[in-house]
Amino acid sequence: MIMNIMNQKPLIAKDIPAILEIEQVSFDFPWGRQDIIESQRHKNGTGLTIKNEEDKLIGYVIYFFDKNKIIIRRLAVHPDFKRTGVGTMLVKTLIDKLSYGRFRSIYLVTRETNLPSLLFFKNLKFISTIIKNYYNDFLVEDGVIMEYFF
Ligand SMILES: CC(C)(COP(=O)(O)OP(=O)(O)OC[C@H]1O[C@@H](n2cnc3c(N)ncnc32)[C@H](O)[C@@H]1OP(=O)(O)O)[C@@H](O)C(=O)NCCC(=O)NCCS
Repeated sequence: MIMNIMNQKPLIAKDIPAILEIEQVSFDFPWGRQDIIESQRHKNGTGLTIKNEEDKLIGYVIYFFDKNKIIIRRLAVHPDFKRTGVGTMLVKTLIDKLSYGRFRSIYLVTRETNLPSLLFFKNLKFISTIIKNYYNDFLVEDGVIMEYFF
């Protein structure tokens, strides 16, 4: 698969149906249309998508600027394209684009049971810290802060 920076574009309204499909198969608590719209309407919220050579959306990241941190709220890759470097490309773009600004780190919280996510961010040199009983939805579960320091 040939992919490069040219395949990465800001998230726009037309991307929402493809994102909703990936949400459904990627998370126990998927975001709905309104969640995505609100995230993009938020004054500090934005998103980045990645498309393959057939212009199919295969991954995205939704993030917020919060003072000196960039907070990743959503990151997912279409199941057919996992382990092909798509997620890495998205996060590396954020690192490259934002490392020169006022930001100190890229930050997110993930479930302690989400091993692919933990291993993925560890591979990108994010540092982990456990937060006890962070999740209290389906069952009580610890969260893990993953943070990349510029
Ligand atoms: C986490 C996620 C975004 C990773 O995306 P991806 O494009 O498959 O990841 P990459 O191909 O860039 O992986 C880079 C490295 O991360 C690690 N990694 C990624 N997925 C892994 C897995 N399932 N198991 C073990 N290591 C994994 C590996 O070191 C991998 O390198 P390798 O394939 O050469 O071994 C993807 O699995 C996903 O969409 N998960 C569901 C949604 C989610 O949990 N999002 C994160 C929380 S917001």
